[in-house]
Amino acid sequence: MAYTIEIAKRDLQESGIKGTFEVKEKSGKGKRKLYIESYGCQMNFSDSEIVTSILKKDGFEITTDINNADVIFINTCSIREKAEQTVRNRLNHFNGIKKRKPGITIGILGCMAERLKNKLLEEEKLVDLVIGPDAYRDLPNLIHEVDEGHRAVNTLLSREETYADITPVRLNSNGVTAFISIMRGCNNMCSFCVVPFTRGRERSRDPHSIVMEAGKLFKQGYREVTLLGQNVDSYNWIGEGKQNTDDKENTLNFAGLLALVAQVHSELRVRFSTSHPKDMTNEVLETMKKYDNICKYIHLPAQSGNSRILQLMNRTYTREEYLERINAIKQILGDTCGISSDMIAGFCTETEEEHKDTLTLMDKVEYDFSYMFMYSERPGTPAAKKMTDDIPVAVKKRRLQEIIEKQQSSSLKRNKLDLNKIHNVLIEGVSKRSDKYMQGRNSANKVVVFPKEHAQKGQYVDVLVTNCTAATLIGRIVKEQEIN
Ligand code: SAH
Ligand code: SF4
Ligand code: F3S
Repeated sequence: MAYTIEIAKRDLQESGIKGTFEVKEKSGKGKRKLYIESYGCQMNFSDSEIVTSILKKDGFEITTDINNADVIFINTCSIREKAEQTVRNRLNHFNGIKKRKPGITIGILGCMAERLKNKLLEEEKLVDLVIGPDAYRDLPNLIHEVDEGHRAVNTLLSREETYADITPVRLNSNGVTAFISIMRGCNNMCSFCVVPFTRGRERSRDPHSIVMEAGKLFKQGYREVTLLGQNVDSYNWIGEGKQNTDDKENTLNFAGLLALVAQVHSELRVRFSTSHPKDMTNEVLETMKKYDNICKYIHLPAQSGNSRILQLMNRTYTREEYLERINAIKQILGDTCGISSDMIAGFCTETEEEHKDTLTLMDKVEYDFSYMFMYSERPGTPAAKKMTDDIPVAVKKRRLQEIIEKQQSSSLKRNKLDLNKIHNVLIEGVSKRSDKYMQGRNSANKVVVFPKEHAQKGQYVDVLVTNCTAATLIGRIVKEQEIN
């Protein structure tokens, strides 16, 4: 048996030695304090939890007070120019703090670090440390390099890294919902998108570690996990040492993974994001149908409703093929399944007619929700290399506004269909507007707000929806006898 500290303490106590075995761990003032700020998609927020885990192991303590920090990290996004501008503004602010407190270390992590490599360190002198999304295990070493006065840059991308063995330290957690990364990178090469360059090749995480993480979270009181990947439908795990993807015994696709996670516990809700229209299979939809605890909600970004634009975007589906997938969702999961999208306004050469195709697609699908953007050219992407960003900003803005208005009316219309119905809601905490109210989400991912009564965070309750806006369902908890 291993000789542990507990046994050693007992041995010493039994032999009458007192007070000599108080080995002080580095704590309190002794520990260096890390402050981390995150931008971009859920994958980035999830990565910050891995970074925190790595640095906690290395003796760091987490602080939410930037003025108290020894190390300031910013985990960054490159998806649109505006995202990068926000990061630059923050870096300038951090350097203001550094002027007052010269000993601190400023580090840039994530996609912008990967895209700009050592530019922010060597040319612009805004940071002390640069690290890309696949290199986080090297952080303790890089911080040491900075301490020694050396340059610290690691932007190597990996074909294998999934951080499978690292248990994330949950940051800003409500204790009820958590994200689990199931894959990294993207092989799709949509022409507008920087992600394949900042995140590298696609790879799937070992399913055993995913199921274990979901199980641990449930034990800790979490009641919902969201499986994350840029394109979850292409999740494909091949058993160690196996090359043959036709070998069903040793491979697992996304539908198989979903079924496994759903079986961790019937009271653990399972969500996932993002699905790609070219890859979303009926097998996934059937698996969603089979398990009550897999939420009936799909984020299926269309980007555009016009087939020529979709081809220029290299999305590899047409308007008709996209609508066929929407029909499959409605047929297999019914009309109450939540559907949302991402839309880009004013992609290269988009005509007024082609823009209208996006609006009519939105009419056809009636999305519950959408994320909507103006096209922003990203250096190095296929679109930046081969096409001209030729739609004037004013036109992009107007088209975006039309898309937003279309979505507003569609969200309200969809929410009205939920009126006078009972929804099973997982409570995530008190409402943002008033502490007399609680809020949670229904299976279709809609936010539901209701008077608190005796309800607790992490509980499932049945809520009768009596009112709504385009963004929220409002109601009251119903008792069992009211339902029957
Ligand atoms: N992997 C996901 C989303 C990745 S990025 C998917 O494939 O859908 C999130 C969204 O940002 C994209 O869906 C797209 O709508 C938007 N986006 C990506 N690059 C963009 C760009 N250059 N300009 C404007 N929006 C962009
Ligand atoms: Fe970007 Fe397309 Fe990959 Fe999504 S699927 S991350 S939009 S390249
Ligand atoms: Fe942004 Fe990188 Fe995510 S570019 S959207 S943080 S993958």
